[in-house]
Amino acid sequence: MANTLCEQLGIDYPIFAFTHCRDVVVEVSKAGGIGVLGAVGFSREQLKEELDWIDAHIGDRPYGVDVVIPQKYEGMDTQSPEALEKQLWDMVPREHIEFAQQLLANAGVPDWPDGSTTMGLMGWTDATATPLLEEALTRPKCRLIANALGTPPADKIKLVKDSGRLIGALCGKVKQALAHKEAGLDFVIAQGGEGGGHTGDVGSIVLWPQIVDAIGDLPMLAAGGIGNGRQIAAAMAMGAAGVWTGSLWLTVEEAHTQPTQKQSLLNATSEDTVRSRSWTGKPCRMLKNEWTEAWGREDSPDPLGMPLQGLVTSDGMRRTATYADAGDCQKVAFNPCGQVIGQINTVESCRQVIYRLLDEYVDAVDKAASLLPKP
Ligand SMILES: Cc1cc2nc3c(=O)[nH]c(=O)nc-3n(C[C@H](O)[C@H](O)[C@H](O)COP(=O)(O)O)c2cc1C
Repeated sequence: MANTLCEQLGIDYPIFAFTHCRDVVVEVSKAGGIGVLGAVGFSREQLKEELDWIDAHIGDRPYGVDVVIPQKYEGMDTQSPEALEKQLWDMVPREHIEFAQQLLANAGVPDWPDGSTTMGLMGWTDATATPLLEEALTRPKCRLIANALGTPPADKIKLVKDSGRLIGALCGKVKQALAHKEAGLDFVIAQGGEGGGHTGDVGSIVLWPQIVDAIGDLPMLAAGGIGNGRQIAAAMAMGAAGVWTGSLWLTVEEAHTQPTQKQSLLNATSEDTVRSRSWTGKPCRMLKNEWTEAWGREDSPDPLGMPLQGLVTSDGMRRTATYADAGDCQKVAFNPCGQVIGQINTVESCRQVIYRLLDEYVDAVDKAASLLPKP
């Protein structure tokens, strides 16, 4: 499986693990893949703390950091996070805030002890992602940067490349992959619609080969629906240079996912996910629940665009994550995951997952090879 991308990054297997959990980053990288920390929910200070911990525990293994700078969003010309937030609040209808807060109250999600709210701008703008990127670039062991929701701005691509790191971005359409290539990215992550988090609507098995054909020798990492080695073999057979996984790491031993949330994920079937704009304003795959149903009803307010909807929901996102085990919190919690969650039913360690993927991959490739006529 090892290839040029592995050599460039100093990893044994082209298995990329997107996660919000620093322990998972460390354990995947130590097991020979590469952990990529999703930074969008952190302030620069929080990210610094996470990266300090990773740097102290990862030994000489590399890791990556993922930021979210969307191609298009309200207020994208405003560079100061404070000015942007002020400008955006003027665009948020009161009705949306009240609707969100009522759903949380109905499910018994506890308020913060001091009665405050934590509604605010999350990391998914250029203004808020830039400090995160700058922090990541101070870390020698951070060898790759990925961006979600569009081609990163040219100045960010230059910054990362000049630092000697690799930069890639997610996409769900051929035309986005071509734009990434044109902008000079080092690799493209092609995510099929079954994938967790923000995602398009073209399925992986259709998307991956189209993107490989379109981008030629630029490496494509296959994302969306990978939970076992057979799925890796399928991706590699379609021309992928590696696999980029997300849902797989939500239920591992090392994940900080709260017990009730972990159980919801372990119990979920592939039919239990939905693409919904209700949390971030852009289509995002997550577990269906009362929150996603409520925002989809005809008499409910239409979710706002990104990042306005995030202003409305950020408090709920934090409260449902902090108090995941309280009341009926799971009925309104934000649980992004892909359809592959239906095949993830037991808790494994990161190392067990990596070794299982490799075993299953070898078996699958052997089996496919055995179908060829004998010379
Ligand atoms: C909980 C969760 C949060 C995610 N958040 C981000 C994100 O902030 N940035 C990003 O590039 N991708 C994000 N993704 C997408 C993953 O990077 C990855 O492409 C996706 O999970 C692959 O599909 P899979 O879930 O079927 O493995 C997220 C995925 C999940 C499951």
